[in-house]
This record gives sequence, structure tokens and C-alpha cells, in this order.
Amino acid sequence: MGGKISPSVMCADFRHLEENIKILEKARVEYLHFDIMDGSFVPNFTLGPDLMKSVREITDIPFDVHLMVQHPENHIALFDLKPGDIVSVHQESTVHLQRTLQKIKDSGARPAVALNPATPIYSIEDVLDDVNAVLIMTVNPGFAGQKLVPATLKKIAKMKRYLVENGYGHIEIEVDGNVSYENARKMRKAGADIFVAGTSSLFIKGINLLDSALELRRCII
Ligand code: DX5
Ligand code: ZN
Repeated sequence: MGGKISPSVMCADFRHLEENIKILEKARVEYLHFDIMDGSFVPNFTLGPDLMKSVREITDIPFDVHLMVQHPENHIALFDLKPGDIVSVHQESTVHLQRTLQKIKDSGARPAVALNPATPIYSIEDVLDDVNAVLIMTVNPGFAGQKLVPATLKKIAKMKRYLVENGYGHIEIEVDGNVSYENARKMRKAGADIFVAGTSSLFIKGINLLDSALELRRCII
């Protein structure tokens, strides 16, 4: 089975959001990635639960919610989550990580833990029974249009090896940040399964959205 595409909605053309989503349906993307930021865990603000509610009314594509917020456990109930959705919380954002992941599971969504580039993969070894996926940030979170942190490519391979060697080969690896066509190929080779696609490969000015999605698909077979 090939890699899965999760378009970063914060990078979409908000003036034509419904049209963008209909095209992404045609491209059969597996998720829609919603970056939620609080201006504290990351120095930016982006999308929120109201926008997600509107998008939920126009598509059945499962949501991939990336909480870049302090104390995510206090905010999970704000989001209208559905079975099949992924919700990622940062290992660095709560002292009660296992309880937070359990809360996501109780909501019916699929829990995932996210790691900033500097956070070691071993920091989550005790919650692997509580997640369906691990999100490896390949840029420092907060903004679109950044450049890959080169060491994260090795980190993806290390994470994959660690998961397989410890009986967690079923856990998917999601990558987020500067997923360009070239980087996507390298990330796929390193073991990534889900690709958050933003300005680097999908929402590129002057390039037809369906064409860019099909091109990305070819890079992650
Ligand atoms: C970064 C965001 C990413 C980003 C991806 O914090 O989480 O989703 O928008 O877009 P590009 O391809 O611009 O890195
Ligand atoms: Zn993200």
C-alpha cells in the first residue's frame, strides 16, 4: 500500500476552500490536516473548531487534527471528532501525555503523538500502546514554507526501526513540514506512511491542485 496524503488546510486557498476540498476529494486524499495553534506552544495562530465544523459539512474526508497547543487535554472536547479522525498531541505540550491520549481514544478518534525535531524518539516509548501513529515534525512547528531540518530524515528511519524491532510495526509514521516531492521520496524511503502536504508540494501558486496531488502520490508509492 502506498503512502497517504494529508493536505495541510492552513495552506489552502481560503478564498476557494470548498473548491479546493472538492479537488482533493477527486485526488482521493486520505485525510485533511488541520493545524491548531495557540500562540504559546508555537508562536502563531491558525485554524479553529468553527472552520472544522464548516468543512465537515462539505466532505467526508477524515480529519487529521494537529494540536500545537499547551495542555491539549483542556481543549479536546472543543473539536467535533469522528471515528477515523486522527488527533495528534505534542509530547512536549503536556505532563499528562498518557491520560491525554486516552481522552482522545475515548472520544472515538485515533490518538497520535507528535515530536518536535529536537525531541528524542525514546521520549514516547512508554505510550506506544496508546497511539495509532507518531507524527515526526520535519520542521520546527508553527509556520508553513519552512525548510526541512535535515536530521529528521535519519530520525524517521530510526523511529521506523525502533517501532518494528519492538513489535509496534503497525504504528504509522506521519511527517509534517516541507514535504516537497524530493523530500517526500526520501521520507517514504525512510519509512513514513502519512504525508502532510502544504506549500512545498500541494498548494503551489500557479500549479493545478489535482496535478500537484497526483505528482505527490507518485513520490510516495
Ligand atoms: C507547520 C505545519 C505544516 C505546514 C506544511 O507547523 O504544521 O502543516 O503547513 O506546509 P509546508 O509544506 O509549507 O511546510
Ligand atoms: Zn501540522
